[in-house]
Amino acid sequence: MKKITLLFIALSISMLNMAENLLSPNKNFRLDFSVNAIGEPAYSLFYKEKPVIKPSKLGLELKNAASLLSGFNIQKTVTSTFDETWKPIWGEVSQIRNNYNELLVILEQKAEQRTMKIRFRLFNDGLGFRYEFDKQENLNYFKVADERTQFALTGDHKTFWIPGDYDSNEYFYTTSKLSEVDASKVDGNGIGTHGFFAKNAVQSPLLMKTAEGLYISIFEAALVDYSAMQLLIDQTNFVLTSSLVPDAVGTKAYMQTPQHTPWRTVIVSDKAADILASKTILNLNEPSKIADPSFIHPQKFIGIWWGMHIPDYWSWDYSHAPNIRLKDTNWNALVPLPQHGAKTANVKRYIDFAAANGFKGVLVEGWNVGWEDWAGNWKEEVFDFVTPYPDFDVKAIHEYAASKGVKIIMHHETSASATNYERRIDKAIDFMKENGYDVVKTGYVGWIIPRGEKHDGQWMVNHYIRVAEKMAENHIMLDAHEPVRPTGLSRTYPNWMACEAARGNEFNAWSTGNPPEHETILPFTRLLGGPMDYTPGIFEIKMSYYKPGNKCQVHTTLAKQLALYITMYSPLQMAADLPENYEKRMDAFQFIKDVAVDWDDTKYLEAEPGDYITMARKAKGTSDWFVGAITDENARTAVIPFNFLDANDGYIATIYGDAANTDWKENPMTYQIHKVLVNSKSVMKQKLAPGGGVAISLKKASKANMKGLKKI
Ligand code: NOJ
Ligand code: CA
Repeated sequence: MKKITLLFIALSISMLNMAENLLSPNKNFRLDFSVNAIGEPAYSLFYKEKPVIKPSKLGLELKNAASLLSGFNIQKTVTSTFDETWKPIWGEVSQIRNNYNELLVILEQKAEQRTMKIRFRLFNDGLGFRYEFDKQENLNYFKVADERTQFALTGDHKTFWIPGDYDSNEYFYTTSKLSEVDASKVDGNGIGTHGFFAKNAVQSPLLMKTAEGLYISIFEAALVDYSAMQLLIDQTNFVLTSSLVPDAVGTKAYMQTPQHTPWRTVIVSDKAADILASKTILNLNEPSKIADPSFIHPQKFIGIWWGMHIPDYWSWDYSHAPNIRLKDTNWNALVPLPQHGAKTANVKRYIDFAAANGFKGVLVEGWNVGWEDWAGNWKEEVFDFVTPYPDFDVKAIHEYAASKGVKIIMHHETSASATNYERRIDKAIDFMKENGYDVVKTGYVGWIIPRGEKHDGQWMVNHYIRVAEKMAENHIMLDAHEPVRPTGLSRTYPNWMACEAARGNEFNAWSTGNPPEHETILPFTRLLGGPMDYTPGIFEIKMSYYKPGNKCQVHTTLAKQLALYITMYSPLQMAADLPENYEKRMDAFQFIKDVAVDWDDTKYLEAEPGDYITMARKAKGTSDWFVGAITDENARTAVIPFNFLDANDGYIATIYGDAANTDWKENPMTYQIHKVLVNSKSVMKQKLAPGGGVAISLKKASKANMKGLKKI
């Protein structure tokens, strides 16, 4: 009897060393884990019984130490199940289910007397896994030379990619097969910090589509104290391998046990809309660390901003002074430029407009000294974040704003001198508190200081989090421009409400712009990590309006700019155009005034990356719904079933659509607005112009206000 038991134990240990598997709660996914003859760990992933990720190796290469790639055997495995529903402070839905099956594999590397854990979580829409390192005698401090996580794909999939780059994610997407990726061919559009590091390198989140119609997203969650993951493509075998962003001396991460890596994620579906609906990235992040989130308010804002992006219109800088020093410049002696945007009178005009139209915030850029030579000189001390220009009267503006129920949104452009910002941040926050600011937009234009560090490296990853924590302690909401792309940390720090971290609308003002398909790809990629401050709402589409002959233009129709308030989620949403451009079209502006920024529910009605997206969202705490549909450069008919509406009620749908002759290139600014009556059985067919869209607001109808309206 004893013998049989021993034999059984021996057998199960050797089997353990061969393979383990795990199913997702809905059984759509299967994960296989194994360790091969030389002790290399590997995993594979199946969706509806078909392989999505073929056996792929796992592990890390270390600097000046034996690698964590082979020589492992399975010491123990632990499986568990988790199911919980949580409520985000703000978001696209008011409740999120976090349901997964987990497999924790404890690996032993006998020769080095070290252990490494790999924790796998299988959700109903995909996989997350991370490496974990317990505190142990032979693994205390270590330096990562690179992480070698593989994603072995089943073919030469179509992919929506931006070049691998350590400092910038402000690219438009290229759609090609994996074998055709060539990062060297992508136009950087003159952004100083653009630079691909290998022709076959791409950034994550990476979206792919297989020949069989499967959508696969590869990304990461909870990027903390580690460098961002980029992906190198083996263009013959279609294996992606992780490649981390290095620091100034070429190290990719500094670790001290106990520590773990961020989660690596593979989200998969045969329906594109499921990728948009996925909450796996958020679920893999830690719950909110903010005990009292009552200071956090989703809001819409306007700003002294687009005027600086319009060619030769407004300036951030107060004067022409090519060589200034913060401490010994006599700002009052400088000759002011007439085009300086952040003048008290301009700001007051914006406050009036905000107050008249229900906006809570007015962003003001170019208010503080230092903009004279802010970019390109790799200067340590560019801004002090507390000294206004002589023509920006902080106190008077604060009082005026407060009297109108508006707050000014702070702008901390750091010109990427993170060290300078960290030294001055406490004073900068005191200044904000004294002067009534509770939202800050940060910016990191240029090469990073500490010199040699990268925007997406471990040092800066930690910097952005330090700033978010500091702002949270001081009850300040944060919108970061030029940070590493978000990885769901807004769950942990819900005051970190938005990031740019992609190519925003501003590129349309001064570059070749964003192709009309751009906004149909971002929700499938960049927005999986969190909201984007895309700055929609441009009504005066062509820059030739300001400067005859200028060829720059926004690459959408006006109606599509409205639809972006739905399809491009952010709890901090800008109405980016100049007030005078809205004043000329108050009928269309009504949609921006009405649209919500926080939602109870979201329905993804139609979606195909690179082509189109149609979404419906229910405004938080109300019965109002809003619909947004966008298309790429091709005209299409959006089909909108209203089956999400309350079955017993009629709704008035106000439709802000393209006109018959609208076209993003030739005739982008024509639109038509009309009202119809709909109910949960109605299905609307709405024509979208090339590069166009439609925005619809839906309010419950009453007998009085539905008179004369056509039913559909
Ligand atoms: C780039 C940001 O994306 C933009 O919004 C800002 O106006 C400029 N930097 C200046 O900080
Ligand atoms: Ca930017």
